[in-house]
Amino acid sequence: MSAFSIIGCGFVADLYMRSLAQYPDAQVVAVYDQDATRLQTFCDYWDLTAVNTLQALFDATPPDSVILNLTNPHAHYTINRACLDAGFHVYSEKPLATDMADAHALHRLAAEKNLLLSSAPCSVLGEAAQTLGKAIRDGVAGTPRLIYAELDDGFVPQAPYDKWISESGAPWPAEDEFNVGCTLEHAGYYLTWLIAIFGPVRRVVAASAGLIPDKSAHAAPDFSVATLFFETGMVARLTCSIVAPHDHRIRVIGDKGVLGVAKAWDNGGKVTFRRRMVIRRRLLESPIPRRIRVNGPTHPKVGRWGAASMNFALGPMEMADSLRENRPCRLSGDFALHLNEVTLAIQNAGDNTGAQEMQTRCERMEPMPWAK
Ligand SMILES: NC(=O)c1ccc[n+]([C@@H]2O[C@H](COP(=O)([O-])OP(=O)(O)OC[C@H]3O[C@@H](n4cnc5c(N)ncnc54)[C@H](O)[C@@H]3O)[C@@H](O)[C@H]2O)c1
Repeated sequence: MSAFSIIGCGFVADLYMRSLAQYPDAQVVAVYDQDATRLQTFCDYWDLTAVNTLQALFDATPPDSVILNLTNPHAHYTINRACLDAGFHVYSEKPLATDMADAHALHRLAAEKNLLLSSAPCSVLGEAAQTLGKAIRDGVAGTPRLIYAELDDGFVPQAPYDKWISESGAPWPAEDEFNVGCTLEHAGYYLTWLIAIFGPVRRVVAASAGLIPDKSAHAAPDFSVATLFFETGMVARLTCSIVAPHDHRIRVIGDKGVLGVAKAWDNGGKVTFRRRMVIRRRLLESPIPRRIRVNGPTHPKVGRWGAASMNFALGPMEMADSLRENRPCRLSGDFALHLNEVTLAIQNAGDNTGAQEMQTRCERMEPMPWAK
């Protein structure tokens, strides 16, 4: 049996429960939330044991279990720390901590106590990401030269988000999402894939901006773009926004053509390859993509809920499996710390990191008469 406890049972916790339900040997032994009403609603819906304090949760959790920290990002550090102090392995929703010094402290503490510390997202363990990684290793597109990855969610401030409700009735936490910002919330969905496939990032050149500041009093940047320089020499451009039209593509551009995935948030999303070719005097990527697959069965899939069809239990189960099999966990503490560092570098870039002030200027151009 793989035992888990859950702290924080808001919007995302239902997605974890739907995912954990795919694993007959996974069991949630205790649940805690500081909001007593939400806690009871969630536990009634899923038939789980509610406890009223953090200490009661620790008392009810068997040793060597993994605690899932599904609280809001501002609480992650404190809760992660409390779990490690109490001697439990932790799977933290992203980010590990909103401050890099705090993330380092958690990483150190976990290492000292010989505990696992992993963070979401875990879609990197899913079929689409793993198939893409294999296609790159197999050289399907030849040598990869450049990556474009987009995590644009559409113009979310105008979306009917007050109608977005989780399965057990938790509202989508719009205010918190706007205050945390789309980079901290979403960059990890492709950063994890890129770091897993290409290794660590050496240098980040990024900019971020708040384009729609009136959506919340403390809104974080709602747009960022980063050029990532990997130790191996690979270069990737990653864009996040809740302003530009929905686009969740990743494209790996190689010498022989382009490997791509269109849906970042779908474990079963198609991985395709478009061969580069010359037809008469034109250079083009094949209009007919070839689907790339791995052999054999992969992992349990969950149906679509809202914007995602992701198995949120892939990370927690990888932790539990690694403990049982006494092997390193793929979602290591080093991986979580590096992910946190790269994400914060992009989020906090602002509009002047590595920027060059222009010395010249010019006036706006007069439109053509027929365009006035
Ligand atoms: N909303 C999504 O679609 C989504 C998807 C993937 C990941 N996530 C991530 O999941 C995490 C939670 O997001 P959410 O959407 O479920 O938020 P939410 O606000 O709906 O739920 C968070 C819950 O945590 C509880 N909580 C906060 N601080 C606490 C504390 N100190 N002790 C105990 N309980 C506490 C809150 O009362 C709330 O019920 C975030 O890190 C977010 O980035 C969210």
